[in-house]
Amino acid sequence: MDTIDAILTRRSVRDWSEKDVPYEMLNRILEAGRHAPSPLNSQPWHFVVIKNHETIKELMTYAHHGTFLSHAKVIIVVTVEKKARVDEWLFEHEQHLYSGACALQNMWLTVWNFGLGGCWVTLDEPKTEKILEIPTDQKVIGCLALGYSKAEHHEEVPRKQLSEMVSYEKYGSKEVKK
Ligand SMILES: Cc1cc2nc3c(=O)[nH]c(=O)nc-3n(C[C@H](O)[C@H](O)[C@H](O)COP(=O)(O)O)c2cc1C
Repeated sequence: MDTIDAILTRRSVRDWSEKDVPYEMLNRILEAGRHAPSPLNSQPWHFVVIKNHETIKELMTYAHHGTFLSHAKVIIVVTVEKKARVDEWLFEHEQHLYSGACALQNMWLTVWNFGLGGCWVTLDEPKTEKILEIPTDQKVIGCLALGYSKAEHHEEVPRKQLSEMVSYEKYGSKEVKK
């Protein structure tokens, strides 16, 4: 699957079979996270891999949109150093936090590329910190829940039209200059 195919066909998958995700595959997924871009190449992320069903279930109880989480074979919780080693200006612009999102998206696309299914799940930050003993210098970005999808077909989720989200030269200007 090439990159654009992966981007255009990827869907959130929230139901998984019992089949385990092989270690080698999981490692490749983590490698994709490791290769994400970050401001000044600070690589401020950390990935906590969780396979323990009880831990996943406990995290699920506090995630407002994650009732399905307990079916995941594995979840990868992404955190980012709150005081990432970037300069003051980048820090003020909170660029390091966005690199955690880049890492998560890289992993999500790799999951899809392998024929697995994943979903970004928003975790309750304070509860997650406590359950996973995350140090106070880390910020929880979210988690990628993954496994072998139960469904073969994934419904397309509607997207807004490009015309609703793109402007030219100034925000809101719709005059296309070809
Ligand atoms: C930052 C972020 C947070 C999300 N949090 C949740 C979540 O808590 N629970 C959930 O079911 N899906 C979550 N999603 C997945 C979105 O619901 C999903 O990407 C969106 O509906 C579009 O569907 P698609 O991924 O199938 O294209 C999240 C996605 C992003 C990018």
